[in-house]
Amino acid sequence: MIEVEIDGAKLACVDTGAPKGDSPTLLLVHGFPLSSQMWAEQIASLRTECRVVAPDLRGFGRSTLGRWPTADVEPTLDRYADDLVALIDELEIAGPVTLAGFSMGGYVAFAMWRRHRGRFDRLALLDTRAVADTDEGRAKRLKMAEHVGEWGAARVAELMRPSLFEERTPEAIVDATLDVIARSEPAAIGAAQLAMAARPDSTPELSQIDKPTLVLVGAADAISPPGEMRSIAAAIPGARFIEVADAGHMAPVEQPAAVSAALRELVRA
Ligand code: MLT
Repeated sequence: MIEVEIDGAKLACVDTGAPKGDSPTLLLVHGFPLSSQMWAEQIASLRTECRVVAPDLRGFGRSTLGRWPTADVEPTLDRYADDLVALIDELEIAGPVTLAGFSMGGYVAFAMWRRHRGRFDRLALLDTRAVADTDEGRAKRLKMAEHVGEWGAARVAELMRPSLFEERTPEAIVDATLDVIARSEPAAIGAAQLAMAARPDSTPELSQIDKPTLVLVGAADAISPPGEMRSIAAAIPGARFIEVADAGHMAPVEQPAAVSAALRELVRA
């Protein structure tokens, strides 16, 4: 892992595979409240194919939160998107970029589309949503943001457990993911929840996405249901839709080979 200083934070990042320069790059953006560790299988499988860059978003994994959020600026997902662009520049990534965002990483990908669409060439939306939160969903996030300091991240892991996995997913995979959540910084969890609660509805923009796009979902995803993701794919011109069998929300760790194969095809497209 390398470390890059970006706007007051130290961002830790896997940077492996093809050398610097204009080789194709796969930029993997993790979900909430996880880290680049969720991509371990994809990194191992795809590093022979292209350069693979997988950051820990601000505050997660081995990255620091830096001076964010500040008292007078509401946290938004734009912060993570701006960090990704700074990372692309710092790492001198000059070739085509395939941006793959999982769940919260997909929300960040939509922020990239709004703010920095010239900085990536292909898009993978994995187990994510285009809609904004309902009032009820937003209220739950605000509650967690307010209380996570007292609760601790282990409680967040337990709260999330029932919605993350297909029921037959092996215990070892479940435990490894929950362990990452339980080790997350409460302050990073709070900031991310506030940022997700403030995200806009991206549905009206789907029809404008003019990049080769993969939309992938676990068949038993309870957070970003297959029907909803199928509609996302239908709204993006030419998008490919893949439903992965025997996977819930955490498709990249539950069925890593299927997810890697789909990403490989997109990078090669
Ligand atoms: C994630 O996996 O990133 C989260 O479940 C997304 C969310 O809370 O909406």
